[in-house]
Amino acid sequence: MDKKENTNQPILQVKNISKVFPGVKALTDISIDFYPGEVHALLGENGAGKSTLIKIISGVYTPTEGKVIFENQEKHYKNPGEALDCGISVIHQELSIANELSVAENIYVGREPSTGKKGFILNRKRMEQDAQKALDFMGVDIKSTDIAGKLSAAQQQMIEIAKVITRNSKLVIMDEPTSSLSDSEIEALFKQVELLKKNNVAIIYITHRLKELPVIADRVTILRDGQFVKSCLFKDITEAEIVANMVGREISDYYNQQEHTRRKEMLRVENLTVEGLFKDISFTAYQGEILGVAGLVGAKRTEVMETIFADRKKTSGKVYVQGEEVHLKSPRDAIAHKIGFVTEDRRRTGLMLEASIKNNIVLPSLKMTKKKGGILNPKWEKQVCDEYFGKLKIKAPNMNTLIKNLSGGNQQKVILAKWLVAQSEILILDEPTRGIDVNAKAEFYGLMNAFVEEGGCIVMVSSEMPEILGVSDRVMVMREGVKCGELAKEEATEYRIMQLASIQSEA
Ligand SMILES: Nc1ncnc2c1ncn2[C@@H]1O[C@H](COP(=O)(O)OP(=O)(O)OP(=O)(O)O)[C@@H](O)[C@H]1O
Ligand SMILES: [Mg+2]
Repeated sequence: MDKKENTNQPILQVKNISKVFPGVKALTDISIDFYPGEVHALLGENGAGKSTLIKIISGVYTPTEGKVIFENQEKHYKNPGEALDCGISVIHQELSIANELSVAENIYVGREPSTGKKGFILNRKRMEQDAQKALDFMGVDIKSTDIAGKLSAAQQQMIEIAKVITRNSKLVIMDEPTSSLSDSEIEALFKQVELLKKNNVAIIYITHRLKELPVIADRVTILRDGQFVKSCLFKDITEAEIVANMVGREISDYYNQQEHTRRKEMLRVENLTVEGLFKDISFTAYQGEILGVAGLVGAKRTEVMETIFADRKKTSGKVYVQGEEVHLKSPRDAIAHKIGFVTEDRRRTGLMLEASIKNNIVLPSLKMTKKKGGILNPKWEKQVCDEYFGKLKIKAPNMNTLIKNLSGGNQQKVILAKWLVAQSEILILDEPTRGIDVNAKAEFYGLMNAFVEEGGCIVMVSSEMPEILGVSDRVMVMREGVKCGELAKEEATEYRIMQLASIQSEA
C-alpha cells in the first residue's frame, strides 16, 4: 500500500469549524485538510465530535462558525442531498435502511434507473441486476431482491456500503462501518476501500478499532473534547501515541483481568431450539462468572439470546433460572426474573431515542416496580442516574438530555446503565462494547468484574476475540446454530476458538 507523503491539493478543507448545540460545544475551531486517494482516519473518544464534524461536511448540520471548502469552493450545503450531488457520500453510524424495501431499492433509492420514452418507468429488472452485480463484486451473500428488514445488522451495513460503491463519489465518509461486520466482511470492505483509493477518491474513516489502522489508514487526525489534537501521516505515529492523544493520558491495564469464583447455578438452558435457526443449545452459567459466547457471524448467537430473553418464541427446550424451570412469555417476564439484555443493535431494540437519558435508564426498573405495585421515587431515580453517569462517564449536559442527541458510544453506555440499575442478576450482553472507545471499554470491563464479584452472572456474546479471551471465565463456541464446544479459561486460545467456530460439520 502506498503511504508516501501526498503532494496533491486537498480535495476538502475544513477551516476553523465550531459547532454549538444547546448546552454542548461539540467542536471548537477545527481545521483539517483531506487529500484525494488517501484514507484519513478520524479518531477520538466517544463524544469527541467525530460524527458532528462529518455531518457538517456532508450537509446534515450547518457549522456555527467556520468554512467547508470542497474542490476549492466554499460550500453551504442546505441538506445532505446537495452534498451528495457534489460527490460526497456518507455511511452514517446509524444505519439508514428502509426495512420494508428490497435490497436493490435501498441501494438505488432516489436514483432508480428508468426506461420508457421519457424515462419515467422504473426499470426494476435492471436495478436488481445492477445491485446484484455490486453485491457479488463485494463478495457478500445477499440477494438484491431480499427485503432489507429481514437481514442482519451486518448485512444491512453491507447494503450501505454497496450504496456508496455504486455511486460516483469523490469523497466517501465512513462512520464506524465495521462495528457490526465479521472479519471476512471487513476484508471485503477494505478491498472496496482500496479500489476507491485507486480511483483517487478521498476517504474519511472513523473507527474505534485501532487494529484496523495499519491495514487501512494513510493519515490520522485525533480529536479530544471537540478540539483538534493532532494530524499526521499514520507511519509517523504509534498506537500508544494515538491512544495517549485520544485519552489525554496513557492507559495500560486494559482488560483488568480478574480471577472470579464460580458460585451457584444462575441460568441453565437445555436443548433450546427454534426451528430453522438453531438446535439443541444447552449450557449453564453461574453466579460469579463471565461466560463468553464466541462464533462467526451467522452462528445464531444473538437469536439464542433473544429466545432466552423471551423476545423470540422457542420451538422446544427448557430454561431454568436459579435451578427452577421458568416459562417466560415476554421480555417483561424475563426482566421480572432479573434477566437483563444488552442488545446488539441499540437503535432497533435498545433505546427510546425520543426520551431522556434518565427515562431510558429507569425504564426496566419502572416495569419491575409496576408489576409489584410499587412507585418509583424521584430521589432514587436521580441518585442512581448520577451514580451511573459518573461510573460510565456518560458525556452529556445532564440526564434530561434526549438519547438521540448523544454520541453513538454514549448511547451504548446508557443501555449498560439501565440494566445495571434494573438490578439484573443475569446479564446477557450482545456485542456490548461495540462503538465504545478504548477508555470507556476499560471502565466497562471493570464494571463487569464488579458485577460478577457482587454475585451477578454474565453471558457475553462477542465477535471481538481479544474481548472474549480477555474477560471470559469460560467460552462457549457456536457455529451455524449449533453449540460446538466449551473451553475452560486455560484452554481458550484464539486458535482453538477459531478451529471450533469454523470447521465444517462432518455430517
Ligand atoms: N443533535 C445534537 N444535539 C445536541 N448535542 C449533540 C447533538 N449531536 C451531538 N451532540 C453532542 O456533541 C458531542 C459530540 O458528539 P459526536 O456524536 O460528534 O461524537 P463522536 O465523536 O461521534 O462520538 P462516538 O464515538 O461516541 O460516536 C457529544 O457531546 C454529543 O452529545
Ligand atoms: Mg459518532
